Amino acid sequence: MKIGIASDHVGLELKPLIISYLEELGHEVVDYGPQSPERTDYPSYGKLVAEKVVRKEVDDGILICGTGVGISISANKVKGIRAVVCSDPYTAELSKQHNNTNILAFGSRVVGSELAKMIVKAWLGAEFEGGRHANRVAMIADIEEQYLC
Ligand code: RB5
Repeated sequence: MKIGIASDHVGLELKPLIISYLEELGHEVVDYGPQSPERTDYPSYGKLVAEKVVRKEVDDGILICGTGVGISISANKVKGIRAVVCSDPYTAELSKQHNNTNILAFGSRVVGSELAKMIVKAWLGAEFEGGRHANRVAMIADIEEQYLC
């Protein structure tokens, strides 16, 4: 798969470890920044990767900030994005199987590098199950139609 990744300045240290891990797993990775440690703003990077996902320039996205919260909220403001912030592999796996999440976020102040890798592996290894879940995901899209203009 082709994975787009970005962080803010807090998530920057963890990002290269996750990129290497993704490459080890055989994925193509596009790093959307930042490339230097200056203080930055997570909404810019959440939006950037979200746009790449909805435009299908990448298959899925991964976002890292201090908690994963701000950057995932920002990504979720882009129509078509279902971003999940995870600190455990079980939630990551279920979020793909049931909610068809297309962006995974986590916090570099919350999870260590090895747990982050387990979360990434669980998420990328899971598949959307469709069926009864497809209708619920369609209901999420209906909410977007009503409120995200
Ligand atoms: C930056 O200080 C911090 O607020 C950010 O990395 C993230 O945790 C926000 O949700």
